[in-house]
Amino acid sequence: MASYSLQVNGRTVAVESWDPSQPLLYVLRNALDLHGPKFGCGLAQCGACTVLIDGKAARSCVTPVSQAAGRKITTLEGLGTPEKPDAVQAAFIAEQAAQCGYCTNGMIMTAKSVLNQTPKPTLEQVKQGLAGNLCRCGTHTRIVRAVLRAASA
Ligand code: FES
Ligand code: FES
Repeated sequence: MASYSLQVNGRTVAVESWDPSQPLLYVLRNALDLHGPKFGCGLAQCGACTVLIDGKAARSCVTPVSQAAGRKITTLEGLGTPEKPDAVQAAFIAEQAAQCGYCTNGMIMTAKSVLNQTPKPTLEQVKQGLAGNLCRCGTHTRIVRAVLRAASA
């Protein structure tokens, strides 16, 4: 069994896996108890599993644990706390930008990535940035509003 050193939410953790291609998502949820990232499609098509790797949005369902080793991984839990939410989390709460909430992790983490690269995005840039994230509840309007609110905070 191989051991991988991961930097997750500012901590260095060692995880063991028989399979170097094991999805990072499984390691985060099952070994590290980080349940922010969700399993949606498992095929890089919905965005529910999104995390940041070195500040950019990455789909953890198709990221092999071996490729994540040594890189800076941030999950939803690493952004803020209920008492002190990150600006994007606070904006999602303020805009009530969730219904069932299943897509919310992916929307917030992708929004972080968009804002890391473009701190003051236009409406169109926000829409394009989130275009690969699916929301079956139709909350898109509020989600986009929340990202713009976070950008102006
Ligand atoms: S679960 Fe990863 S993109 Fe859908
Ligand atoms: S809020 Fe339900 S999938 Fe987006």
